[in-house]
Amino acid sequence: MNKIVLITGASQGIGACIAETFAEKGYNVAINCRSQNEVENGGNSVAENCRSHGVEAECFIADVSNFEQCANLVKEVAERFGCIDVLVNNAGITRDGLLALMKEDQFDSVIAVNLKSVFNMMHHTAKLMIKARKGHIVNIASVAGLYGNPGQVNYSASKAGVVGITMSAAKELGARGITVNAVAPGFIETPMTAAMPEKAREAALSGIALRRGGLPKDVANAVTFLASEEASYITGQVLVVDGGMIM
Ligand SMILES: NC(=O)c1ccc[n+]([C@@H]2O[C@H](COP(=O)([O-])OP(=O)(O)OC[C@H]3O[C@@H](n4cnc5c(N)ncnc54)[C@H](O)[C@@H]3O)[C@@H](O)[C@H]2O)c1
Repeated sequence: MNKIVLITGASQGIGACIAETFAEKGYNVAINCRSQNEVENGGNSVAENCRSHGVEAECFIADVSNFEQCANLVKEVAERFGCIDVLVNNAGITRDGLLALMKEDQFDSVIAVNLKSVFNMMHHTAKLMIKARKGHIVNIASVAGLYGNPGQVNYSASKAGVVGITMSAAKELGARGITVNAVAPGFIETPMTAAMPEKAREAALSGIALRRGGLPKDVANAVTFLASEEASYITGQVLVVDGGMIM
């Protein structure tokens, strides 16, 4: 029987690539989208790409910063597929600005989507995994959460929080056969980074040992590894995928 993976924020970007990579490996895929609009403009084609690998795939709408919507999301996915073997907390936003100029809402919204969502999803999913006495959780952090980044006090705080919640949950859930890890991407080639001014891009790339930006697939490969049997003795870790940007 195929294993089941639930990925938040999977209608585009890194999340979509993670969904398709799990499908290639034979997992049935639950694709979380924030809205019906995202289902129609992204989610449905991600699901179709997943199904082309012979697995089942479906979109589920929820705003993961909302505790109740996460409860419903986990319930719906468990009812549809029978269980959740792997949870990937990928949904994230940026609302950059300098510390002295940042509005309260800029800080609160990034913490809600990037960090509180991880608590929401792990809280509801852990109950199922504890009952099953197995499961893998992979949270998407960022190098900004490990080393900081100017203009991103909100984002780096949220991602540092993701690292902390990952380690605490790993210590709590290890005895139940559940692993909890994080992947911290560096500079990944997505529409977000493509929109950077050429000079800023060049400066970022020149600081990377491998002299290129990462691809969504580089992140997805790390995520599927941490969810695999090959990684069953790895928990509470942060796997940095940054081409040697920071060491
Ligand atoms: N792109 C990079 O260089 C990079 C680097 C480090 C970390 N990351 C992290 O990787 C993850 C994916 O980033 P990406 O580059 O693919 O960004 P993206 O903007 O392309 O995708 C983010 C996804 O999250 C979804 N999302 C946002 N708010 C949501 C909510 N409230 N509920 C449900 N879904 C929501 C969006 O709809 C979108 O599908 C994020 O956590 C991001 O912080 C990205």
